[in-house]
Amino acid sequence: MFTKEKIQLVYQGEIIGKEVIFLESTTSTNDTAIETGRQRENPEGIVVVADTQTHGKGRMGRTWISPPGVNLYFTVLLKPPFLPQNASILTLVAAVAVASAIRENTKLPAEIKWPNDIMINGKKAGGILLDMKSGKDKINLIAVGVGLNVNMSLNEFPDEIRQSATSIKIETGSPVDRVELLAKILEELERCYKIILQGDKRALINEWIRLNSTLTKKVTVKSPDKIISGLAENINDNGELIIRLPDGKTETVNAGDVTIVKG
Ligand code: BTN
Repeated sequence: MFTKEKIQLVYQGEIIGKEVIFLESTTSTNDTAIETGRQRENPEGIVVVADTQTHGKGRMGRTWISPPGVNLYFTVLLKPPFLPQNASILTLVAAVAVASAIRENTKLPAEIKWPNDIMINGKKAGGILLDMKSGKDKINLIAVGVGLNVNMSLNEFPDEIRQSATSIKIETGSPVDRVELLAKILEELERCYKIILQGDKRALINEWIRLNSTLTKKVTVKSPDKIISGLAENINDNGELIIRLPDGKTETVNAGDVTIVKG
């Protein structure tokens, strides 16, 4: 059973998960979480989980396929004490947490494809979407949204993504308890968030590097305004990707879709 009571039974965090709002259905857990957070004095750590989303949002304006009964769709609200321009570190926090939790609970070799795709055996199993409400120099609220294909079967994926997407069940061959996995992700999120709160960005970036499948590869990055090809050399402290171009110069990108060039 996928219920709020069960989630609270298996997971009790200090910061994350102090309140878990479970919905059978919502538009998008990111939108619902932001609305909820606006009405609360201290929204940090609230988790909004839905069994299905009617308007699940992906990166770059895409739709996130969100059928009921099979996957995880949830959003964690945070109010970190740093400047809005440094908020992107939280995408790394979430990606490290999700990949580590999958590895721990399922033993699958989950990896992170820059910026924050969760990959298993070369196919996309999950993604992370940050929505932020901020003033000029203060973060009011950040919604860290996670979508993870857990028990979805191949025939449930739309044709366009059937080749490139996967789920944990497809990769392990057997279904996984969604609540146990959610609890592990929340536990890992809290661990990684605390590393950042303690000011140890480097430690977190090193964990990201250990779990990533992009660095040292030849890549093509389609960002909203250009396409760049080169060697994925490093990420900087903001989580931006540094590409070494064929002419030896470097270019830094902060958003886009990466394709790893074979050969
Ligand atoms: C991506 O495109 O890779 C990011 C996908 C993020 C999907 C999750 S599902 C829970 C949360 N609510 C949304 O509407 N989107 C995120």
